[in-house]
Amino acid sequence: MDKRLSNGLPTYRDATAPSTAPQPTWINRKRRRRGFRILTTACLAFLAFSAYQIATNTLKPTSILSIDRLQQDHAICVALRKRPTEPSTARDHNKRWVTGTKPWLIRNATIWTGEPAAGTSAEDARAGKGWSWVSSDVLVDKGLIAQIRPSIPLASVPSDTNVFEAHGRLLTAGIVDMHSHAGLSSEGGLQDDTNEMSTDITPYVRSIDGVDPLQPEMEYIKSGGVTTSLFLPGSGNNVGGEAYVLKFAVGNKNGREEISQQDLYADPDRNWRYMKMACGENPKRTYGKVGEHGPVSRLGEAWEFRHALEQAQKYVSEQDDWCIAADAVGVENMATYLKQDLQWESLGAVLRGQVRVNTHCYTIPDLEAFVRHTNEFKFRVYAFHHAHQTFLVPEVLKRAWGGTPAAALFADNMYYKVEAYTASERAGAHLYAHNITPTYVSDNPVLNSQHVVFEAAKAYGNGLPYHAALAGVTSAPAELLGLGGRIGKIKLGFDADIVLWDSDPLAAGAAPVQVWIDGAPQFENPYELRKPEREPITPDTALANELKMSSVRGSVVFTGISYAYPKTYKDTPSMDRHADSTSAVFENGKLICLGACVAEMEAARSAKAPVIHLENGHLTPPLTAFSTTLGLAEIDSESDTHDGPPPSDGVTRATDGLLFGGKQLAHAYAHGVTRAISAPNEYGFEAKGISAGFRTGAKHSLEENAVWADEVGLHYVLTLAAKKEGTASISAAIAAVRGKLLDAVNDNDTVPDVPNKDIYAEKTYLKRVVNGTLPLILAAHSADTIASIIRLKSTIESAISKAKTSSIKPILNVVIIGAAEAHLVATELATAKIPVIVAPLQPHQGSWDQKRCLMGAPLTNGTTLNLLLDAGVLVGISVEETWETRDLGLLAGIAYANSEGRLKLDQGLDLVGRNVYKALGIDEPKAPGGEEWVVWEGSPLKIGGRVRAVSGLSGELDVWQ
Ligand SMILES: *[C@@H]1O[C@H](CO)[C@@H](O)[C@H](O)[C@H]1NC(C)=O
Ligand SMILES: *[C@@H]1O[C@H](CO)[C@@H](O)[C@H](O)[C@H]1NC(C)=O
Ligand SMILES: *[C@@H]1O[C@H](CO)[C@@H](O)[C@H](O)[C@H]1NC(C)=O
Ligand SMILES: *[C@@H]1O[C@H](CO)[C@@H](O)[C@H](O)[C@H]1NC(C)=O
Repeated sequence: MDKRLSNGLPTYRDATAPSTAPQPTWINRKRRRRGFRILTTACLAFLAFSAYQIATNTLKPTSILSIDRLQQDHAICVALRKRPTEPSTARDHNKRWVTGTKPWLIRNATIWTGEPAAGTSAEDARAGKGWSWVSSDVLVDKGLIAQIRPSIPLASVPSDTNVFEAHGRLLTAGIVDMHSHAGLSSEGGLQDDTNEMSTDITPYVRSIDGVDPLQPEMEYIKSGGVTTSLFLPGSGNNVGGEAYVLKFAVGNKNGREEISQQDLYADPDRNWRYMKMACGENPKRTYGKVGEHGPVSRLGEAWEFRHALEQAQKYVSEQDDWCIAADAVGVENMATYLKQDLQWESLGAVLRGQVRVNTHCYTIPDLEAFVRHTNEFKFRVYAFHHAHQTFLVPEVLKRAWGGTPAAALFADNMYYKVEAYTASERAGAHLYAHNITPTYVSDNPVLNSQHVVFEAAKAYGNGLPYHAALAGVTSAPAELLGLGGRIGKIKLGFDADIVLWDSDPLAAGAAPVQVWIDGAPQFENPYELRKPEREPITPDTALANELKMSSVRGSVVFTGISYAYPKTYKDTPSMDRHADSTSAVFENGKLICLGACVAEMEAARSAKAPVIHLENGHLTPPLTAFSTTLGLAEIDSESDTHDGPPPSDGVTRATDGLLFGGKQLAHAYAHGVTRAISAPNEYGFEAKGISAGFRTGAKHSLEENAVWADEVGLHYVLTLAAKKEGTASISAAIAAVRGKLLDAVNDNDTVPDVPNKDIYAEKTYLKRVVNGTLPLILAAHSADTIASIIRLKSTIESAISKAKTSSIKPILNVVIIGAAEAHLVATELATAKIPVIVAPLQPHQGSWDQKRCLMGAPLTNGTTLNLLLDAGVLVGISVEETWETRDLGLLAGIAYANSEGRLKLDQGLDLVGRNVYKALGIDEPKAPGGEEWVVWEGSPLKIGGRVRAVSGLSGELDVWQ
């Protein structure tokens, strides 16, 4: 096809269809009059030329230009004027339907249609009324939802219909993630085609050109129920290029005819086009070169946008002038061809309203500048992505040209850069209250899109109404993509993109049982988890109330405690499980009674102590973040806010670099993560040096009991990061650790009477490791590296035995953290008595050494955690990124919900508490003011569970109310 009719433009057939656009009125329009004058002159010249032609030829008058090409150009005018319209649902089949795909009858499902009950007013619906799960059957045929009603008789459906018994399980529309870079970089992050970084303004590049349908993530993202995504170019460029809405069904095994990019188009007619733009830190960091070219500031970025849009505007006017003239005088009389330039074609289409712009934009200056651009150039931005500050400026958003943009958000991934440092977990709730649509996105691979529904779940837990949270990953993004009449709901005539869930989609750990795309089931032998709770969540409207923390001295009473961790500290009252109503009474931060507490309640009442009534109250020990950046780095991308990287030679102590008072610590604390053990590092759990144990609520390290252990363990890195830190190979990194440990075994030096600097030297810590008084924590993902660690442990232990130093127990206390592939050596780990802290809980092939990780149900039978538990390995959970520490309770909740009975509630909590201390072989710290407790409303392991009090420090109780 001629490049002038390339993919970017509507097809020739579209172009020649009768125009529905109103004819332009060019009378009284200066610009067009001028255009016409030029044309009149051209026509006169042409007539003179024709006269000559007629005189010299008997042929019909002809232009020196190709009439064919002029006519093609004229046909393009129709396409240029075309405004995309909402695709109709009145279809007898879905254009994506592959002939031969059999109908499916899904019987006895519990359906979230995505719409409130008929007759619900818009106002009531917004307030959460009229929404419910309904029992029904669903028939899908020809790629469409053909029937939704209770008890569809088998006799009434086509004879080749397959039947799926849903047994009452929950059914929703396929999840729509409107910010993904799936398929654009390869497994393990080896190759990357996400961003065309040759220059800042690249409206002419297209994400589709890099999408690889064979990337394994296409399959595992879908295993989280995601059926459709907006595949965006990266956010390095102010104008990043065109984006594509694709579905995740690939090739024959997913019911498709072929493996191709084209086959992925969610709308084969490609009615709408999409474009990615980006404001703020990324473009200036990526492109600005002081003294050479911009942008080096936000000022320069605004110019880049405006300059590009100015070019596009000129391009559009030139085309419009030509088309108007061609209409007026007849295309065969034109003296030029229609101007066509791929550089500005797509941005021109933005100004023509044919492209839905999605812009990465965080801060007020960025949002407001972009809103100004929309008004200056009259184009619509459909959503601001990342958009952490949008909740502060709903009025700014409402000033955008053409309609208020939505906010495409993470639930609580924040603080990773300066522009993400002002953010709120309650942003979605605030925005919704101001009539701005929140939608939840993964930015895959930033978050694994497989779990994007977890973002919506956390948003619900943070106060967004349940129906709006679910809409945030279904109907809301569908509408923002211009496909709201086809996807995002379970409705007659919609695409048959369906997810059947093993539990409420907004419950921690929810996974699909089966996924249909265009009526074709996507998993041949899906694994289904036996879930303790399959019923829908009853939306808790109390979550809409924001709680504020205050420190209280004296007595505080909590009633309605339904769970207390069975802890048997000597100084802790044991729970009276026979009491009708269980209460917890705290006095100066210390738990003094648990049970009926008649006398204590009476005393508290006469002292006019606050009494807090809890629904389903839980009393648990604090949660512990192990080997994260918590307390060592505040804003990930800003080194000034970090302690800094560990030195390549020797080791340092985290206790000397702890940074208190940051937002990361405050949020961890407010989520019940009141303790942390962090080791020197800049990012993630890949630490090197001596970890410190501290309390996240402390103000500084000298506060009483702020740091409860200066030296917890010695950490080394054996993941791929080891290769980046100067060691050429993993084998060299292992050899180095082994060599150091063997030296320590053979080192007979005694400790000098007067301490010298050697007591803080690596070799001294290594001696403590080999004499069994300090645990060795090794970060590793690959099963092969873990196998080497198992051998290393036995090598060192046999060396210790041979050294015959009587005081030394021949046991090396090794803990592995990371462990994405640990399930492959689960029994060997159990035999070697090596505890494992999985970090993250749900890995996703983010690096090559995690390639064999398990994606969980419905793709894999089991998870690393379950297989380690089955083998008898002591396990815990940690995270990669600092912001995730606040979610440790929910991560334990995912493990608990997906453990198929392996874990009881106490044991779920132990994954982020007691097991960490057991693994390290150390005692849990004790606070001077008595045991530390966290009081929750709801379960800490479930969405919607909230911290109501934290005890244990400085004689006060921190209470949230
Ligand atoms: C639907 O499934 C539930 C759960 O298995 C079952 O109790 C109920 O009887 C089923 N209803 C029908 C109509 O089959
Ligand atoms: C340490 O002592 C053992 C015997 O007690 C001896 O065999 C070994 O050589 C000594 N190592 C060093 C480095 O001195
Ligand atoms: C272990 O080694 C350290 C460092 O040499 C020493 O201070 C400590 O006393 C040793 N402990 C035991 C139990 O041998
Ligand atoms: C899944 O694995 C478990 C062992 O963890 C095994 O008992 C079960 O049969 C497996 N299920 C399937 C469907 O393969």
